[in-house]
Amino acid sequence: MPPLTICVMSRKGGTGKTTNALNLAGSFVNDGLRVACLDLDGQGSLSRCLLGPARVESMHPANTTAGLFDPKYDPTPDDLIQPTRFDRLFVVPSSDALETFNRPSPAEAGEAQFVIRRFLDEAANRIDLAVIDTGPNTSGLLGWAALAASDFVLTPILPDPFGSHAIIHVQRLVEESQVKVNPKLRIAGYLLNMVQKNAVQQAYEQTLRQIHGGQVFTTVVPLLAPYREAIAERAPVTLLKPKVKASKVVKAVAEELEARITAAIGTTKKEVA
Ligand SMILES: Nc1ncnc2c1ncn2[C@@H]1O[C@H](COP(=O)(O)OP(=O)(O)OP(=O)(O)O)[C@@H](O)[C@H]1O
Ligand SMILES: [Mg+2]
Repeated sequence: MPPLTICVMSRKGGTGKTTNALNLAGSFVNDGLRVACLDLDGQGSLSRCLLGPARVESMHPANTTAGLFDPKYDPTPDDLIQPTRFDRLFVVPSSDALETFNRPSPAEAGEAQFVIRRFLDEAANRIDLAVIDTGPNTSGLLGWAALAASDFVLTPILPDPFGSHAIIHVQRLVEESQVKVNPKLRIAGYLLNMVQKNAVQQAYEQTLRQIHGGQVFTTVVPLLAPYREAIAERAPVTLLKPKVKASKVVKAVAEELEARITAAIGTTKKEVA
């Protein structure tokens, strides 16, 4: 059985995809799972955070997610899965070469649509859970291949009027993926991120909940300085400082995500593992 796979996706940039992918991965590691972060964003923020910029820049493309898309290479899980300084946390890094594979009309890309799914099948005995971080350009092959390989999609949104555009786009993509390549794909929910308690944001949050109901996570993620501090120290806050309030917020999100997974597929991520 391939690992349970969660794709973090939004068409909008800077909504906290990488930050939440990283912190959630750390929370699942704290639960005892072996977690792989797959970096499908050519910017490589997640890879740089976990491995350091110098290591990522010196990496051969065959040892990165680009190697999965490049027909020149046929990398094995051993070639791709890199340990981090944290037990049970792994990363499959991206490289600058990745963006060249983000071709349009991905549903016509043949076998390339399924390279992530195939990799996860092959990595089944190495990891329990995969978290895929995607870039803001979601309409090409990279986002499509991520969805083809995923069980759930999590979309961080900012509490502002532009956030709903990101939701509509993800909904359309998920529906298309369900029809064409991945009928088991589900939306885990929309996660309000960088929330500050001012009147404008509160009004917007209320509207969002009226429109999207239970698809919006009950838990919201405030603007929390420790998230940024942890990234500066190249770590998920949940592994760097598991007891601080910021880590408790991540844990609450992880628990809600797990409850949503259980409600949707009748099993917890631990049982899947
Ligand atoms: N809840 C939060 N509290 C404080 N800072 C946050 C929070 N979420 C994200 N950030 C910060 O906001 C910035 C953007 O976050 P991040 O890089 O995770 O977004 P992204 O959606 O992955 O961006 P991109 O679309 O470029 O990949 C980063 O500097 C990050 O540290
Ligand atoms: Mg990012």
